[in-house]
This record gives sequence, C-alpha cells and structure tokens, in this order.
Amino acid sequence: MSDVQAAPHGRGTGIPYPFDIRPLTDTGGAEITGLDLAAPLDDGMRDAIMRAFLEFHILVFRGQSLTKDQQAVFSKNFGELEHHVGRLPDGSPYPIVHTVTNLDEDGKPTPGAVALGNYFFHTDKSYHDIPSLMTMLHAIELPPSGGDTQFANTQMAYDALSPEMKARISGLKAEHSWEASRRNSGAPPATEEQKRERPPVVHPIVRTHPDTGRKSIYLGNHVSHILGLPAAESDALIAQLMEHVGQPQFTYTHQWRDGDYVMWDNRCLLHRALRNYEMATQRRVLHRTVIIGTAPY
Ligand SMILES: [Fe+2]
Repeated sequence: MSDVQAAPHGRGTGIPYPFDIRPLTDTGGAEITGLDLAAPLDDGMRDAIMRAFLEFHILVFRGQSLTKDQQAVFSKNFGELEHHVGRLPDGSPYPIVHTVTNLDEDGKPTPGAVALGNYFFHTDKSYHDIPSLMTMLHAIELPPSGGDTQFANTQMAYDALSPEMKARISGLKAEHSWEASRRNSGAPPATEEQKRERPPVVHPIVRTHPDTGRKSIYLGNHVSHILGLPAAESDALIAQLMEHVGQPQFTYTHQWRDGDYVMWDNRCLLHRALRNYEMATQRRVLHRTVIIGTAPY
C-alpha cells in the first residue's frame, strides 16, 4: 500500500493506492512495482490504475513480461484499441499490437528502420478526429544504455504561459495531418492512399482534459498550421510554443529498464524517442498499443 500526496503536476485524490507507487519527477511519472499485468485485472485495480494515470500521466510498471496477446488483453481494460496508418515494409497494415524497433526486415539494427516522426515531440494520433487517450509501450529488447523516451507535460507548460499568451492562443485552432507529420519530420511524403485514409483534421491549440478539466497546449509534429493566421505568423507561434513546451522544467526522460511497461496520457503530454544509443549496432524492440480517446475541446 502506498499513500502518495498529490503531486504538483497532477490532481491526486489522496486515496491510498492498492499497489506500491513512487513518484518519479515533479513533471510527471510514477513507478509501480509488485503488479503482474499479465494476470487478470479486476475493476477495483483497473480503477486504481486509472486514478494513478490521471494523477501522474505516465505510469511505469517494472518487471513485466507480457506476450503480445497479453498486452492486447491488458490494454483493452482501458478502452478500444486503435489501428495504425503506417504500413510495414511489405505493405501490410500494422497489427493491433505492433512492434516499435530499429531492426530492419532481416532483424538487423539500423538507424533507418524507425519512423522519423518518432524523434519529434508529438501526441499520438492527433491527425485523427478522435485522437488517442493513452499509449502503452512494453520493453522487449533494450540497448545497454539510451534509447530513452522523453515526455513534455503540456499542462504545466500551459500554466506557465503569460496571461497575454494565454489570451492570444485562446480559441485558436490548428490543422493536424498525417501528411504534415511526414513533411515536418523529413520522412518520405504521405502516399495518396494515406492522404485519403487520413485527411486533415482541426483541433484547438488549448485542450481541456476531459477527466481533470486542466488546460494544456495541444500541438506537436503532426501540426500543419494554425487556422486564420498568415503562414509566417503561424509558423512562428507554433515554434515559440513548442520551444516553450520542450524546456527541461516540463520534461521527464524515461530511461528504459528490462521489463518496463509504460502507459502515458496523450491528452496532456507530448513525447519523442531519443537517438541516444548506437542505432546501427544495438537492438531496441518495444511492443505498442494505443487506446482511442475522445474529440479534443
Ligand atoms: Fe508516438
């Protein structure tokens, strides 16, 4: 049992958690030990995990060992699983539990095997009308060091804006698209089929968290432009806000350990992978699931 005080970044209820939990940083993240996520989850435990999720935004379950099927079962406790736009090298769609890796088709490490967009701050699936609620990654193979995932707390970043900036961005909307995401990260352009499959969508720049009511800055690498502004002004405002969000006082860098199973809240965080390992020789393999959320407002 663990009685954790409300963290400065979240809104804890003060109710004790039925598992061992330890806050990781003031920007978010908590480590949970002693649970086996491969075991069936009852409603009480599920609700407690969700309560911790809303308080800490990033939950790090240590010492896990789930098959892909077990990850799918665990993930479905938190909502409907999301399908993915990208295609595997052979052209087939990504499976619902898919692999994030730097290994090529022959199983060899290569810097080119990872989607470039992963290296830029983004929130998963913001190019959907209904973007994701949470993403889960389970570490399967890790480099000896590095291969970190970095998170930025966009609620703290919003709170720290000047009253003038809050007033300026209030009511502004941005267009997000798969096409812009590919362009912004220097990836090969989206195919016509992908553009038809995922046409641009519009979301508010200031997003209200549906469960906590807190406001956050909702931008990232999938953003094309801000509606109603000249292109140069839109670009400058996006760059200014993204630079603000990425400041160290709003970020937490997760250093993966064997057996880590991490879930995070895409509604109040940006994230990116760091290239801080020998991608050409070292292996990094994680299994990923994404839960569908609700329309931003
Ligand atoms: Fe992502």
